Amino acid sequence: MAEGNAGFSSSGWSLRGTTALVTGGTRGIGYAVVEELAGLGATVHTCSRNEAELDKCLREWHAKGFAVTGSVCDGSDRAQREQLMEKVSSIFNGKLNILINNVGTNIRKPTVDFTAAEYSTIMTTNLESAYHLCQLAHPLLKASGAGSIVFVSSVAGVVSLGTGSIYAATKAAMNQLTKNFACEWAKDNIRSNSVAPWYIKTSLVEHVISFILLMLFLEYFIFLAMLIYSEKCVDIWHETLVLH
Ligand SMILES: NC(=O)c1ccc[n+]([C@@H]2O[C@H](COP(=O)([O-])OP(=O)(O)OC[C@H]3O[C@@H](n4cnc5c(N)ncnc54)[C@H](OP(=O)(O)O)[C@@H]3O)[C@@H](O)[C@H]2O)c1
Repeated sequence: MAEGNAGFSSSGWSLRGTTALVTGGTRGIGYAVVEELAGLGATVHTCSRNEAELDKCLREWHAKGFAVTGSVCDGSDRAQREQLMEKVSSIFNGKLNILINNVGTNIRKPTVDFTAAEYSTIMTTNLESAYHLCQLAHPLLKASGAGSIVFVSSVAGVVSLGTGSIYAATKAAMNQLTKNFACEWAKDNIRSNSVAPWYIKTSLVEHVISFILLMLFLEYFIFLAMLIYSEKCVDIWHETLVLH
């Protein structure tokens, strides 16, 4: 992790002179990413919907000597995304090195219970917002001469985690956007990558994380028990199967 003094890290790596936009930077993963980039010397802009929380974070970062500014923006709203990118362009003189598409949300319920409005909320917040911000950021990333897009995806976009089908679909789509943008914009010297975390204790999941871990443990236990009793495992007589 970067240290408190902006621009220096124990690894000697520096992002001095670079600019970054991190969406959803006031809590959880986004907050940590803002701290890391700013700690390495990048000039960072972030956004969230809650002005009081955003102001509190900005005060904390300024106290640490970090160059961070912020905007109130609902990433699920097209017009607000356009205003955000205009602001970013204006404060960074039309050049952006790093775009971190971190904003995301989830509604945990069975697929058959999803309403059209809930479907739309997850699609616009997780996928459309990231897609549109990439479109808007493209000229700024290109102008920087060395652009980098990072999508905050999820393991749920690769395997079924039981976190909700539409959330998983948005993350899987992000993984594919990552590949397409990488190929399409390599000529503009813009890299595109995604990071797919498993569970991280943030405000998004803290109310369900204990339950999820218990359910995963139970599922694994039942799977192993059935394996032992199934006909395919008649040769297992006295094995102890350890749950890792
Ligand atoms: N935590 C995990 O276990 C986990 C695992 C895999 C992937 N992820 C992904 O990681 C990303 C961050 O998750 P997190 O766990 O750090 O979430 P979090 O703790 O809920 O933080 C989300 C941040 O985004 C902001 N935000 C949410 N909706 C927004 C919107 N419509 N417009 C603007 N800002 C918005 C929030 O501020 P406001 O609410 O004030 O707007 C907050 O700053 C998400 O894309 C999530 O899918 C998380």
